[in-house]
Amino acid sequence: CGIVGYVGHRDALDVVLGGLRRMEYRGYDSAGVAVLDGAGGLTVERKAGRLANLEGALDEVGRSRFAGRSGMGHTRWATHGPPVDRNSHPHRDAAERVAVVHNGIIENFAQLRAELEANGVELESDTDTETAAHLIARAYDKDPDTAGDLPASVRAVCRRLEGAFTLVVTHADHPDLIVAARRSSPLVVGVGEGETFVASDVAAFIEHTREAVELGQDQLVTITREGYEVSDFHGELAQGKPFTVDWDLSAAEKGGHEYFMLKEIEEQPEALANSLRGHFSGGRVVLDEQRISDQDLRDIDKVFVIACGSAYHSGLVAKYAIEHWCRLPVEVELASEFRYRDPVLDRDTLVVAVSQSGETMDTLEAVRHAREQKARVLAVCNTNGAQIPRESDAVLYTHAGPEIGVASTKAFLAQIAANYLVGLALAQARGTKYPDEVGREFAELEAMPKAVEQVLSTVGQVRELGARLADSKAVLFLGRHVGYPVALEGALKLKELAYMHAEGFAAGELKHGPIALIEKDLPVVVVMPSPRGRAVLHAKLVSNISEIQARGARTVVIAEEGDETVRPFADELIEVPAVSTLLQPLVSTVPLQVLAAEIARTRGYDVDKPRNLAKSVTVE
Ligand code: G6P
Repeated sequence: CGIVGYVGHRDALDVVLGGLRRMEYRGYDSAGVAVLDGAGGLTVERKAGRLANLEGALDEVGRSRFAGRSGMGHTRWATHGPPVDRNSHPHRDAAERVAVVHNGIIENFAQLRAELEANGVELESDTDTETAAHLIARAYDKDPDTAGDLPASVRAVCRRLEGAFTLVVTHADHPDLIVAARRSSPLVVGVGEGETFVASDVAAFIEHTREAVELGQDQLVTITREGYEVSDFHGELAQGKPFTVDWDLSAAEKGGHEYFMLKEIEEQPEALANSLRGHFSGGRVVLDEQRISDQDLRDIDKVFVIACGSAYHSGLVAKYAIEHWCRLPVEVELASEFRYRDPVLDRDTLVVAVSQSGETMDTLEAVRHAREQKARVLAVCNTNGAQIPRESDAVLYTHAGPEIGVASTKAFLAQIAANYLVGLALAQARGTKYPDEVGREFAELEAMPKAVEQVLSTVGQVRELGARLADSKAVLFLGRHVGYPVALEGALKLKELAYMHAEGFAAGELKHGPIALIEKDLPVVVVMPSPRGRAVLHAKLVSNISEIQARGARTVVIAEEGDETVRPFADELIEVPAVSTLLQPLVSTVPLQVLAAEIARTRGYDVDKPRNLAKSVTVE
């Protein structure tokens, strides 16, 4: 979910809606706002569906009813209760004096709800959030320890909540104050001139200020026009961590593109270049943060890569490189699975946690589990200061810039490059590669932005193909070696964006089952390895294509330019520049992103906000 709160000198509704617009990628099942008019009035509007529905509702009731200088808003990704008006945030207490927006899950909500009901409180919604609104109101109205004190009331309630949450709370009696609290879920403060913001991420206030403050775990912040104050859940004063946002508004805007995703696909050369910049210095690969010794790195004898979604696919790609370069066993696992089995870890295990947002709850919990077992954790993350890097022993930041499209594109490519840097750093620490070899690998990586640029200049053909494939019932994707995770990523993109059945397979597995799916005209996308690399691999895949073509499939082949051997088997041929085998995913993924986006567009879907998804999934 996306959360924003504001106290200042501007029209709060304007600021809050602007913030929600920039955070809509965090959830778009419903949206709502609350504004304090300064004279004891608290006005709320909320609506199921996209933000546009809420804006329509505001126009209907008249925006003038929402005049005020402080307020808050929420865009929801539904957890408890379906996305209907009644379950939309903000939630209020019975007297409608307290309003609460929330991100996360309150795990003991059933018990809290029962307690409230036993006390005669009638709950209006199915949400866990509403319980917090009633509990805060009760603390504020009735509990002698906290009566009349909003921060103290919120603290008292936070101490009782289990799970992960960000709460933003307003009270009609305090039009100049907003209280926000966080446990695990993200929350940052924005500090302006005579105005202060709280939000799930800086995108919400970047238009007004780039001065931000990161909050720690189990902290509460009160914001007023004059500034902010951080404390813990027991009222002890605490320090936030100030930082300056290093990207500007234009990065969070579409810049003439129809969709963010299309802009982000085009930004991939830059995302790669920025993610590599400065990471090879003095003849060595350098990480951004390293809180473990070089000796500890040398002692690593096993690597796990844990991640979700596209980030997981970047880990699958990395396995080939890290095993090859470092002679270390590498397991790649979905964070949600890793966490709940009993992985064998010790202090010589390196767990690489890959997460664009740095706040994916599945990955965060897996990191915590790994650290409890004494494993070392290295985070690969695109968001400065997010929770996962904070809780890790070493960090490598990708610099893809803000990614707004829900389906990952530029962050995915940057993750692949960063994972390779992790592999090179390990090889260098272990001495499995000489410094000049590490330097050569890095130089090859540095040539990739140009190669991706070249792919982008030829995607017109892919777009046209996308439009023609838009009526397909399903699409299969095949690959071998590093082309296999690319096939998985291509299929994921198509599922996410075009709601089409799509599956990726290891091409060698075809004959063990999936070949039964092949029927006349079924599009099958094949990611070819380079003919200059491992000749066997290439030859095997050529046979696989001929097998499926013989059974009537319509073959779409992604191959290196000049690879004449595949031509007879390709109903559609998409050429990508020649690069070394391990780096191929960086070029071959790009046409698959464009293909999925174009099929989705042709089918009339919103490419940036696919149904049911959210970009940052901060619940398990
Ligand atoms: C969500 C997004 C995916 C993303 C995954 C992991 O499911 O829709 O695009 O790959 O989360 O996100 P992370 O921020 O951890 O990389």
